Amino acid sequence: MTRILMVCLGNICRSPLAHGILESKLNSSEFYVDSAGTAAYHVGHQPDSRSIQIAKNNGINISHQTARQFKVSDFDRFDYIYAMDASNYTNIISLARNNSDIGKVKLFLEENPNVSNKNVPDPYYGEMSDFEYVFDLIKDTSIIIAKRLLED
Ligand code: 4NP
Repeated sequence: MTRILMVCLGNICRSPLAHGILESKLNSSEFYVDSAGTAAYHVGHQPDSRSIQIAKNNGINISHQTARQFKVSDFDRFDYIYAMDASNYTNIISLARNNSDIGKVKLFLEENPNVSNKNVPDPYYGEMSDFEYVFDLIKDTSIIIAKRLLED
């Protein structure tokens, strides 16, 4: 089983989308996908209604997801830890215990050679159009990641 964790700040907007989209592209008997936030603001909450809606419009149900905070034991439980932006990356790395932990963490958009800005923009204070933009960016990148995982 290969285990992949998507991480943003609140675990209600970006990482639930990355979690649901990548999960939809992989076989659950071989791949486990989860998500978490570096902050605890929204622990126990459903994803933001706008993330639920944009996912639903694209045939993906993320409404059953529940926000949780990233924890040090996630370094042991996951093979790949993807940060949605540089700030999330720094927050995760600050909890790393050793080089093995650090080596598991990558910026999500580092996997996408077609984009130069490696931060998935935070749509929380934005409009539905920002969620649409983020959905497409995450979908395109998830296709690349799934293809790579299936080749390994
Ligand atoms: P996310 O978006 O990190 O993509 O889940 C945010 C959600 C909530 C907050 C910030 C970003 N907040 O400040 O509550």
